[in-house]
Formats: sequence, C-alpha cells, structure tokens
Amino acid sequence: MADTVYRASTTAPVNIAVVKYWGKRDAKLNLPTNSSLSVTLSQADLRTLTTASCSAAYPAAAGDSLLLNGEPSDVAGARTQACFRELRARRAALEAADPALPKLSTMPLRLVSENNFPTAAGLASSAAGFAALVRAIANLYELPASPSELSKIARQGSGSACRSLFGGYVAWRMGDAADGSDSMADQVAEAAHWPEMRALVLVVSAAKKGVSSTSGMQQTVATSGLFQERIARVVPQNMAAMEEAIAERNFASFAEVTMRDSNSFHATCADTYPPIFYMNDVSRAAIRAVEQINAAAGRTVAAYTFDAGPNAVIYYLEKDTEAVVGTLYHVLGGEVGGWKDAVVKGLKPSISLDEGIAGILKGGVSRVILTGVGEGPIKSEEYLVAEDGSPHATSA
Ligand code: DP6
Repeated sequence: MADTVYRASTTAPVNIAVVKYWGKRDAKLNLPTNSSLSVTLSQADLRTLTTASCSAAYPAAAGDSLLLNGEPSDVAGARTQACFRELRARRAALEAADPALPKLSTMPLRLVSENNFPTAAGLASSAAGFAALVRAIANLYELPASPSELSKIARQGSGSACRSLFGGYVAWRMGDAADGSDSMADQVAEAAHWPEMRALVLVVSAAKKGVSSTSGMQQTVATSGLFQERIARVVPQNMAAMEEAIAERNFASFAEVTMRDSNSFHATCADTYPPIFYMNDVSRAAIRAVEQINAAAGRTVAAYTFDAGPNAVIYYLEKDTEAVVGTLYHVLGGEVGGWKDAVVKGLKPSISLDEGIAGILKGGVSRVILTGVGEGPIKSEEYLVAEDGSPHATSA
C-alpha cells in the first residue's frame, strides 16, 4: 500500500473587508496592528478549488509542489513553508498518538489549485488561495482543528486569508499574545443572517502594478503619523459600530462605516512617506457615483470600499438593485462584461449620474462582477489530482 495516493479537495471564498487590515506588528508571524472585519463573497462567482494530495510514491527529491492555474508555483517562500510546517506538525502529533495511522506527515505534498475567475480581474486571490490550501491539507490530514484554529495557520500565509475560513460576516481579532496564539478569525454572523447583502465589483485596470499590500502596509506603519490615530481610535470604533450594524441589519450604518473605513485606510496610504496611491481617477469617480446614487435615492443604498488597488467594491441590498445596479448598468452599457441577465433584465435607469462622472466610469471600468454574501470553504468531490497522482491542468 506504499503507493496509495491520498487526496482531499475543498473550495474557499474571496472576502472583501469593510474594516481593513493594514499594518503588521510582527511580520514573521503575520500579526496585525488592528482587528478587521469582512464579508465573504459567494463562491458561485469567486472561488479557489484546491486538491491536496500526498503519497509515498511521490519522489521525495522533488519535494512539495503546487500547480496554480496550470502553472508551477513556488512553495519555497516562508509563508507557504509556515503553513506546511504547522499542518504537518499537527498531523505528526495525531500519528504519534495512533501508530495505526498512515504517516502522511512524512510524504511529499502535491497541490493543484484553480480559480474560477480570471486573474486579470485584478482581485486579490491570495485570501481564497491560502484558505483553500490550508483547508485542503487539513482535510487530507483529517485534522480535528476548528476553522478558527486553521485561521491561525492561514494567517501566516496571507493575513486576509484567515477570514476566508468562514462564510458570512467575519472578524479577525488582532489578539495581544506575542506568539500569535490569539490572533484568529471568528464568525460575526452567518450569511443567512443578512442574505440580502450584494456586492458589485467595478474592475478598473491599473496602468502599472501598484505597491503590494505586504510592502505598502510596512511602509505605512514605519512612516505615517495618521496611522497611529487609525489603529488607536478609528478602527476600534469602526469594529464596534460595524458589529452592531450587522447584528441589527442596519444598512445605513454598515455603509457609513464601510465608506469611512476605506477612506481612513487610503488616507493613511496618502500619509505614508513617500505616499502610496491605490485609487485612481476611475476609483474616485466610483465614489462620486455612489454619493450621487445615495443622494438621489434619499437614503443610503450603496457603500464603496477599495483594497490595495483601483477596483471598487460596492455593497448594496437586493431590494435596491434598481437604484444601484440599474444606474451603473445604464452608464457602463451591456458591452462591459460580467452583467447577469437575471439581475439586469428589466432594470430601469432611475437615477442619472453627472455626465463627467459617467464618462470617466465608462472609459475606465473594464468589467463587472455581480455577487453576494456566501458560505465558507466547502469540501469538494472534484479532484484536480487523479487517483494515480497525476495533476489535472484544468478541472473541466
Ligand atoms: C487592503 O492579506 O494581502 O486587502 O498579510 O501581507 O499577505 P499580507 O497582506 P494581505 O492584505 C490585505 C489588505 C487589504 C485589506 C483587507 O483585506 O483587510
């Protein structure tokens, strides 16, 4: 039985923070300077599928490997190595306690991973990627670890990945232990608690690749005075207000905190020396469009947020699809890819945007993604590694 190929597959979601993680207090353990909170997006539209496999028949000399979207990917980096090490140590403990268990911890790992969305969409896929990697190996090793326990491992792969171990509304508690043992994610509310939440992503192409989050946040921590105010006062207030807004399903409050927190994060980027700019003219036009939509609706129906790039993510409730999606669909036109017939069919352009704003959006938004709040990782019966251990380049 030495050549048995052991396999496990999972999918994992993307999450978009409404209170942002920005800043590390320990870069090695990837411990943050502040807590953060995100909405998990539906895997029907955005997900990573990962198969983890191991076998004594895999050549030991080749070591662990990862095939990502059909391309070999480097696993030698400290972050991936930290995830492998932690997961193997937990498996080794199980094997030590029960000698009847196969020694999976000693076998090379072969991982194959695929996203169901184009990398060109410019959406950070590291959160879904590391969440899927950790969950798939934990399933392979049959670890009894809870999602919060696994979130501590995924955090070391990429901070935001720890929040993709859960569905719905998820907090990453910064913790205060020096060893990171209390820096983990928990679920604030299930997706079913507030299932009407929707997200419209405006994909904006960046002229050149911006500063990576990892390096950008370290520059902010090192040079921004405003950042100290953000972590000491702004974020703690936003976390409390956001948890209350979610508990009460209060969209106006959810939206205000989301927009203020995004603005606060980008203000600390502008206060970094030299300054970092993630938003561009198209991003700013999206902000103005959301303001105009809210003003015309006479209440808050949409909230914008931006990560470390120019794409706008706009949260809204299903009942306000016409005001939000209808307005932007009318402005951008059906030729922009990503609209769903079931969502846009019959929508009337009830609100008209300022012509200048509409023109900038039309010229700069390359595609849209219409999605909603969704579930956490789901065990999958689809395998990207065949029974004989050979990897599939595509899941089709
Ligand atoms: C702006 O999780 O990509 O998206 O921990 O260095 O991998 P590393 O950073 P990463 O940072 C994400 C930053 C953000 C905000 C957020 O998702 O909370």
